[in-house]
Amino acid sequence: MDITRVCVVGGGTMGNGIAHVFAQKGFSVTLVEAKKELADKAVATITKNMDRQVAKGGLTAADKDAALARLKTATSIAEAAGFQLAVEAVPERLDIKTAVFKELEAHGAPGAVLATNTSSLPITDIAASLKDPSRVIGMHFMNPVPVMKLVEIIRGKKTSDAATETVKALTVKLGKIPAVANDFPGFVSNRVLMPMINEAILCLQEGVSTKEDIDTIMKLGMAHPMGPIALADYIGLDVCLAIMEVLDKGFGGVKYKPAELLRKMVADGKLGVKSGSGFYEYPKK
Ligand code: CAA
Repeated sequence: MDITRVCVVGGGTMGNGIAHVFAQKGFSVTLVEAKKELADKAVATITKNMDRQVAKGGLTAADKDAALARLKTATSIAEAAGFQLAVEAVPERLDIKTAVFKELEAHGAPGAVLATNTSSLPITDIAASLKDPSRVIGMHFMNPVPVMKLVEIIRGKKTSDAATETVKALTVKLGKIPAVANDFPGFVSNRVLMPMINEAILCLQEGVSTKEDIDTIMKLGMAHPMGPIALADYIGLDVCLAIMEVLDKGFGGVKYKPAELLRKMVADGKLGVKSGSGFYEYPKK
C-alpha cells in the first residue's frame, strides 16, 4: 500500500515529535488529541522545533511552511478517517491503548498499518482485541524524535511480514534506521538501557557518588551523549519507573527491581524535565 496519510494519536513529547518528522518528510498528518488546547500546544512545540532546525540550517523556511501545511489536528480519530498508517503515542496504559486501537481499526483505510510507540507494553496484548492483529506493530521512536536516528520495530506474535516490511521502508523514508526486535519485555532498547539507568540511581541512593560525578563518569568514560541520571530526567522518571516495573514483572529477580529512590522521586511528583524538577532542576525559561 502506498502510504501518504498518517494519523498520530497523542501530541505529547513523543507524539508531537512523530507528527513533526512525518510532516517534514512529505506525509499528510492528522494529529489527534483529546482537547483542542492540547493539539494547539503540540503544534506550537512542532513549530518551535522546526524554527530551531531552520535557525541551524537543517531545514529551509519554505520546507518548514510546507510541512506545517501538511499537518492538521483533530479531537477524534473518526475525523482522521481514511489514514493508511496510524502511530499511537498515548499514555502507557493498556486499557487506554486498547480503546485507541479499536477506534483505529474502525477508521483506518482497509489494510491500514496500526503502529504503537509504546516503550514497553507487549504489542501482542495491544493487538489482542482487534479483528486483525496482523496489522499491529511497534514503531518505537527515540526522544528527541527529530534528532534520533533509530526506530525500534517490534513484531507482536501475530504481526505480519507485510506490516513489518512496510514499517521498515517507511522508517527509511523518514531518514531513520530501522532495527527489528521480537515482543519480549522492554524489547531491546529498554531492556538494556533502563537497568543501566536504574543502576546509576542505585549508585546515587547508596552514596557511591554524586549525581554530577555519576553522569560525568558515564558521559566522558563511555562516550554517552548524556549521563544516565540526566537522561532519566529527560525521559521522565515516571516512564523509567513504568518500564522497570514491566521488566520486573516480566523477568523478576534483583536485576530489574526498581530503585527505591526512583520510586520516591515519582511519588513526590519529581518527574524530571517535564515537571520542572527531577534529579536536577529545570527552571521555566
Ligand atoms: N527538535 C529538533 N531538533 C532538536 C531537538 C528537537 N526536539 N532537540 C535537539 N535538537 C537538535 C539541535 O537543534 C541540535 O542541532 P544541530 O546538531 O544541527 O546543532 C542537535 O539536536 C543537538 O542539540 P543541542 O545542541 O541542543 O544539544 P546536545 O548536543 O546536548 O544534544 C541531545 C541534545 C540530542 C538530546 C543529546 O544530548 C542526546 O542525544 N542525548 C541522548 C538522548 C537519548 O538517549 N535518547 C533516547 C532516550 S530513550 C527513548 O527515547 C526511548 C524510551 O522508550 C525511553
